[in-house]
Amino acid sequence: MVRQALAAAASALLLLVLAGCDKAPARSALNLATDDPVVLATGQRIYSAQCAACHGAQLQGQPNWRERDAGTGRLPAPPHDAAGHTWHHPDEVLFNITKYGVAQAAQLKDYDSAMPAYEGVLTDAEIVAVLSWIKSRWPPEIRRQQDEVDAAARQRK
Ligand code: HEC
Repeated sequence: MVRQALAAAASALLLLVLAGCDKAPARSALNLATDDPVVLATGQRIYSAQCAACHGAQLQGQPNWRERDAGTGRLPAPPHDAAGHTWHHPDEVLFNITKYGVAQAAQLKDYDSAMPAYEGVLTDAEIVAVLSWIKSRWPPEIRRQQDEVDAAARQRK
């Protein structure tokens, strides 16, 4: 009797653990933190050192950023401010583009892009910090819209 009860308790516990796993916010480490001053200070430092040369000190992007270079076929760096399309993407897409580059993030094997991949250069936390800082610079309405895009993407998971 005791054995059976124990076995039942054990399998109930296992079920609970499995159910817990299913609900665990697997990507919680990826949440952009626009209200954490330490994260934002780190993000700003990384942006100046690693991103500003192309995306602009004011996040303004490169001139004529919608037109591919006639020679290389590559796009210029787009703005990261409200005028660009960075905020059209969920957090995970922004993270993947920054970590792995555009071709891999978009699963376009032969896509040639000037955007570097920061895997091995920045840690995951540093990537989240720099994206958090970029997001913190958007007007509240744009931040809210990106929150919605991100929430919709997480629901599809
Ligand atoms: C050498 C220039 C260069 C540097 C440095 C650079 N980028 Fe980019 N980035 C680009 C270009 C060019 C694109 C557009 C890529 C394309 O579509 O081919 C881009 C696109 C992106 C996008 C996608 C934006 C969108 O709307 O689709 C993100 C996100 C991004 N960069 C983040 C960063 C971050 C964060 C850094 C610094 C850690 C950084 N980039 C540094 C050139 C650069």
